[in-house]
Amino acid sequence: MKFSIAVKGADVSKNTGCCDIFLIFEEKRGKIVMRQIINNPGHKPDLLPGFLEEFKIGALLCGEMDEQTRQAFAEKNINVITGVSGNADKIAEEFALTAKQQANMQSCLQPMPKVLVSCRGLNGENNVLAVGYCGNCSYAPPMVMVGIVPTRYSYPMIKGSGCFVVNLVDKRYKETFDYLGSHSKRDGDKLAAMNVRLQEGKKVNAPILPDCPVNIECTVVDSIVTGSHEMFIGKIEYVHAAAKLLDSEGKIDFSQINFL
Ligand SMILES: Cc1cc2nc3c(=O)[nH]c(=O)nc-3n(C[C@H](O)[C@H](O)[C@H](O)COP(=O)(O)O)c2cc1C
Repeated sequence: MKFSIAVKGADVSKNTGCCDIFLIFEEKRGKIVMRQIINNPGHKPDLLPGFLEEFKIGALLCGEMDEQTRQAFAEKNINVITGVSGNADKIAEEFALTAKQQANMQSCLQPMPKVLVSCRGLNGENNVLAVGYCGNCSYAPPMVMVGIVPTRYSYPMIKGSGCFVVNLVDKRYKETFDYLGSHSKRDGDKLAAMNVRLQEGKKVNAPILPDCPVNIECTVVDSIVTGSHEMFIGKIEYVHAAAKLLDSEGKIDFSQINFL
């Protein structure tokens, strides 16, 4: 990414009109790989955005700027960062380390949870899949949501039964998690292959995984097709938690779980 700093003397200039020069930098992976000196074309605030656009910069750093000029730079896809002062080369090195540019938008909310969702089809068949698209979605009443891709073998099971269990996963279960997240029950009995232990849910007609420290039984109250996933909103009916994790009020000490 290329960026520029308005410079007076050796420091960042307070404004772009009275700067001596513009320093143009190119940053690659946090390091400056190019430095170029451009003379200030004169105090022509209207022309400056077009002038600097020629150098294909994505950002301009200076002390201050009025809204109208900032807008004119924005129209040229140049982000103006104001409030900058100090030695221009030092500022450039610091900026290179934090400079931002457009990134891939998929799965950009991180860290992503890693849970195992267990379910049962209307024919009584059990299944478990790894799920990363999930989260808390209501405090009162307590609810969570899980996103299931319609092509998953588990999808018609959850859609048909209207319930599922979210199992929080400890690092010790990593091998099983990876297997259940990369094999479909459509192709063979993955639960038997990994000796996955199952226990009956207390409130819903789906199995829980007793080897996971926390199991959240849910009934589906709604679902939204968001795109690639259908988000199933689950009202929490019962939470099983290892007794050693609970305080006197039943609150779970999540810090004791060595999450994946
Ligand atoms: C880390 C991880 C996260 C995943 N997240 C999801 C998810 O959020 N939704 C989904 O439908 N599949 C997700 N998958 C893929 C399924 O777990 C995988 O396709 C699984 O084999 C489906 O099993 P099934 O066909 O037996 O239902 C994830 C897999 C991994 C490894």
